[in-house]
Amino acid sequence: MKFTKTLIAELLISASVIGFVLPAVAAEPMVQTQQQEKPNVVILATGGTIAGAAADKTNTTTYKAGALGIDTLLAAVPEIHDVANVKGEQVAQISSNSMTTEIWLKLAKRINELLKNPDVDGIVITHGTDTLEETAYFLNLVTKSDKPVILVGAMRPATAISADGPLNLLNAVKLASDKDAKGKGVLIVLNDTINGARDATKTNTLRVDTFQSPELGYLGYMEGGKPVFYKQTTRKHTNETEFDVTDLNDLPRVDIIYSHVDDDGKMAEAAVAAGAKGIVHAGTGNGSIHGRTAPALYEASKKGIPVVRSSHASNGPTIENSAAYTENGLIDSGTLNPQKARILLQLGLTKTNDPAKLSEMFKKY
Ligand code: SIN
Repeated sequence: MKFTKTLIAELLISASVIGFVLPAVAAEPMVQTQQQEKPNVVILATGGTIAGAAADKTNTTTYKAGALGIDTLLAAVPEIHDVANVKGEQVAQISSNSMTTEIWLKLAKRINELLKNPDVDGIVITHGTDTLEETAYFLNLVTKSDKPVILVGAMRPATAISADGPLNLLNAVKLASDKDAKGKGVLIVLNDTINGARDATKTNTLRVDTFQSPELGYLGYMEGGKPVFYKQTTRKHTNETEFDVTDLNDLPRVDIIYSHVDDDGKMAEAAVAAGAKGIVHAGTGNGSIHGRTAPALYEASKKGIPVVRSSHASNGPTIENSAAYTENGLIDSGTLNPQKARILLQLGLTKTNDPAKLSEMFKKY
């Protein structure tokens, strides 16, 4: 199925008939004077399934992610305007599997700029679910405010029967407007659950309850249309980190090497040859490394290319388990999964390539 402009227009018209997506209208401007009592929330849209359109309303798997603009998403949920004065901005319009550092930096700089404005109370970012956890953790480390920053996505396209996007978006605006969401780091809301950016991961390829924080748990829920928190992270975030994107135009290259039977170290060597400034090893069990790969990783570490040990097991921390790893300067990722360990290593490398200092960061963030 090719998504021509005509087809998408037809989809929007049929979707508006069934009531899930209304024709595009401009987002409500922030009128301070008339609506003083409502918080001001800016929605930064990046695409994803929440903005996806399929050929028919029963189709939940073959669709174009990011087909719809922010104004169309907002028009489908007029109830949002009872909660907050909202303004939408289209930062990107992509499927999040193609997310880039360039978009991350643009997003982070725009968020920091907006949050400095005393008239802005919170930010919502609409995002594809595939890399939502990565963007959330990146923003958790580089945005500089205690105001709520909320990521939201959906598992069913906007054109689907029982699309989950509209309620998720309403919940995100409620969360971004709520004083209880302040100071808790970047948050993720989908399927009535609130997750912290550091610990949440996409656990299911298709289901609406895909975001979980394995073992560490949800921070709270949307209960009766209101956010209720039960806990918060002890790890540093936002205002408390040393990372600053103001003058950054790129991030150091960090590759993830995925361990498996017969791994022979060639991919680790290839990462170094490709110019990696750091490597994350997604090991087996407690971050274990194939005997034939370890020498390549020790060699990288000796050359000043820090190596972080994480695990492709989905639960539990990666902690010290071999004197040889420690002697060769390998860094433990703790409970950060490989894709999040990669982000912390990238940001850490903007400060230092000393394994001891990087190791401290993995304990702190
Ligand atoms: C994407 O990540 O952009 C596509 C998948 C999704 O949003 O669920």
